[in-house]
Amino acid sequence: MLILGIESSCDDTACAVVEDGKRVLASKLASQVDVHKEFDGVVPELAARKHLEAISPLIDSVIKESGVTLKDIDAVAVTNRPGLIGSLLVGVSAAKGLAYALSIPLIPVDHLAAHIYSVHLSHEIELPYTALVVSGGHTLLCRVDGHGEYSVAGTTLDDAAGEAYDKVAKHFGLGYPGGPVIDKLAAQGREGIVKYSVTNLKGKDKYNFSFSGLKTAVIYQTQQFSKEGETAAQADIALAFQNSVVESLRRKTLLYVQDSGLKRVTLSGGVAANSELRRVFAEEQSFEAYIPERKYTSDNAAMVAGLAYHLYNKGERGGFDMECSSRVLNKREVKCV
Ligand code: KG4
Ligand code: ZN
Repeated sequence: MLILGIESSCDDTACAVVEDGKRVLASKLASQVDVHKEFDGVVPELAARKHLEAISPLIDSVIKESGVTLKDIDAVAVTNRPGLIGSLLVGVSAAKGLAYALSIPLIPVDHLAAHIYSVHLSHEIELPYTALVVSGGHTLLCRVDGHGEYSVAGTTLDDAAGEAYDKVAKHFGLGYPGGPVIDKLAAQGREGIVKYSVTNLKGKDKYNFSFSGLKTAVIYQTQQFSKEGETAAQADIALAFQNSVVESLRRKTLLYVQDSGLKRVTLSGGVAANSELRRVFAEEQSFEAYIPERKYTSDNAAMVAGLAYHLYNKGERGGFDMECSSRVLNKREVKCV
């Protein structure tokens, strides 16, 4: 079964054709980084307009690269939540148009469920398992019982992990997106010159994260956390910041694994491209980490079309009145319509 996937929840327009949930025939992206770079972050109105310009040529190009024609497509899948409403609407409208014109089913996909599924594009993973999703907009620790079925155990109380990277980079004038730049910079940092504590929430928040205190410390209080007599370079600060983020993600995941007994752990979302996070999770002895290929960590449509195959088999369909939502579904079963 061939599914055309469309993703436009934030600042990248993405389309892909995937066969039977696994074989990626083509996956393409129209990046908007150059547009938003000058504002050090995503400008929603601009994002929506750029999606509108990009979407039709991108669909044509992905179909061409797949070596199929639109007539061969069996269903069209689209991200309809969570995300920026103006951005989501562009993808959803294009998908509705295609589904109508081609008389094929329309399948709504939850963006976070799709990030979780991205790991399945290159790994076989037995259900149930623990999933950590770390992106620019969300940080979720979940139990996954089926494709598209996740229950949230922990989330961030303030900034998402990627958002903290982006804000720290913005403060230091390193541009947008901040994650890849800080990742590279941290590799040149000296261990122990700067040290930040790891936020460790307790009680009802024991699986939750918080990154805004760390972000504030990095931005305003660097000298306070520096080794006496040392002038911290940007790279030392980047390293200390990254160590704190990665340790926080590792600790909470480990705590959830110990409590739930679900030792298979998937790592996904844009921050899953981070070299230190990948290394730490891969080397962790107390759980078995499954990490997607880097090209499927950030927003892409292969994960949307891949997940949609399983949702289709479960009977999930969207109508032409299908809506978009900016909000995360915090339910056990993901119902996207
Ligand atoms: O999943 P994604 O592409 O979009 C959202 O759904 O939000 O994630 C984008 C986020 C950005 O905050 C970006 O800075 C971060 O992923 N990111 C990284 C790295 N590459 C991208 N963060 C840390 N290290 C990286 N190498
Ligand atoms: Zn994403």
